[in-house]
Amino acid sequence: MSNELQVELASGDSIKIPLDAAPRSLADVLATHELPLNTRCGQRGLCRGCEVELRSGTANVDGNSIAAPAVIKACRARLECAAAIFVPARSRIEHRPQVSETFEIAVPYAHQPLFPFVPGGRDTAFAVDVGTTTVVVLLVDLVTGEVLSRAGAFNEQIRFGDNVITRIEAARNPETLLAMQRAIVAETIQPLLTQACERAGREPERIAGGAMAGNTTMLHLLVGEDPTPLGIAPFTPRFIAGRKVSAGDIKLVDAGLPAETPIQLLPGIAAYIGADITAGVFASGMVFDERASLLVDIGTNGEIVLQSGGKLTACATAAGPAFEGSGLRCGTRARDGAVSDLNLKLNPFALETEVIGNVPLARANGLCGSAYVDFLATARGCGLLGVTGRFEASAWGALPEQCRFQHEGRRAFRLAARNGADDLRVSEVDVALLLQAKAAIGAGIEVLLQTAGIRAADIGKVYLAGGFGMHLNVAHAIAIGLLPGFREAQVRVVGNTSLAGALLALVDRTTLYEMEALREQVSVIELNLADGFEDRYIEHLMLP
Ligand code: FES
Repeated sequence: MSNELQVELASGDSIKIPLDAAPRSLADVLATHELPLNTRCGQRGLCRGCEVELRSGTANVDGNSIAAPAVIKACRARLECAAAIFVPARSRIEHRPQVSETFEIAVPYAHQPLFPFVPGGRDTAFAVDVGTTTVVVLLVDLVTGEVLSRAGAFNEQIRFGDNVITRIEAARNPETLLAMQRAIVAETIQPLLTQACERAGREPERIAGGAMAGNTTMLHLLVGEDPTPLGIAPFTPRFIAGRKVSAGDIKLVDAGLPAETPIQLLPGIAAYIGADITAGVFASGMVFDERASLLVDIGTNGEIVLQSGGKLTACATAAGPAFEGSGLRCGTRARDGAVSDLNLKLNPFALETEVIGNVPLARANGLCGSAYVDFLATARGCGLLGVTGRFEASAWGALPEQCRFQHEGRRAFRLAARNGADDLRVSEVDVALLLQAKAAIGAGIEVLLQTAGIRAADIGKVYLAGGFGMHLNVAHAIAIGLLPGFREAQVRVVGNTSLAGALLALVDRTTLYEMEALREQVSVIELNLADGFEDRYIEHLMLP
């Protein structure tokens, strides 16, 4: 037999490839014969995207001679004599990294759906990001891997509290726990799923399954598990590994899909580093980066994950939902009518704003997190705010009369008077709350860097996940110390990576196994016990 590689494909096709003497990896040999594999870790042996079955012959894998039958990583294998391999469908790239208006998937993935499907029959699935504040549902065609439609809304659990701590507290009452499960399943996900099906023109009966990601508390409430252990030390979740439930188990029964429809919950890492973060770490591709990288997810809480030398370290900050507008006088989520961008100058005074949906400023319904970041950066830049976040007396006096608002000895900057509503304004109390949130995140980032013995300049990429990043002026986030010490060029806004991870699990089930393996590699740092956190937090309460 000549030096030939016999390749069997999942489609039943087979081809023969002559082996040359060049020292190339099996993945490279296949790629040059138009069989590129899913080498999502950059051929570094870190993922399972390039696995093939060695059916006959031997392969040299990282210097060891491996004989058939064996499963080998094609990126690490060299063939020196005749062999036969089988390439499973999951190891072939069929889909390239996907960028959409709301998230970016930066890892290649294959087409090997999580659920068996029948074209024209049960051929549809759904991915859900169960956020504390908002929930998004994607409907996906399992045959093509295409996203068919999307629908999003506020999490109806908000009426029980705007953050996870208040919901954990509320869950102490078993009836409220049930009511919260009803709020997320029957009142939020179910109507969104119906809406997504209508938009795509698909009957719910065609749904073969779903995948959901969210923080640990949200997933507990989703399945009706008591989350109260998450509220007290040692913060032990009832479950943290990926979990399979059925639509019937979680009472997702009125959307028209059969009760036995399987639903996969993505794996989390710890009580406050949930499946949404596992999804983000994977979908951003940071785990495969050669240089150190950082994922910062600023949502209702702020979670941060550092990858340095292939080691993953994470922490959760008690940032609270200030950057989602919560607790601020005129704060709001990013939505139509919210001021999203703001630029303030003095001498001469100038105020430029952008309102989502091109609504006039006088009719804006509030400011979202990105506008608050702009305010902090530009008001500090022009000298209106001092380092402590108070209005400087002389600059305050230079403001036009209509922009000065004073109530009970506290000053506020008035953007606009609104007919029949509170004036649109940013007060010193708002600034203090924002500084607490940015201090928690800034100090959390620095503690992770310090633990790894690296500096901000050593980081290749900072992945900014979550809806907050979508309107954010990155230069302003850096200027106020929210992303301390970074340069704009390092920052990449990746959107809703929790949703991206749920989508990945649906279309390529090996990604689910990789996320499961990944969660065990992450060390979690408790910030309140970490050396130097408190000092850094106090420093970061200032504006640079
Ligand atoms: S590409 Fe081979 S292990 Fe990742």
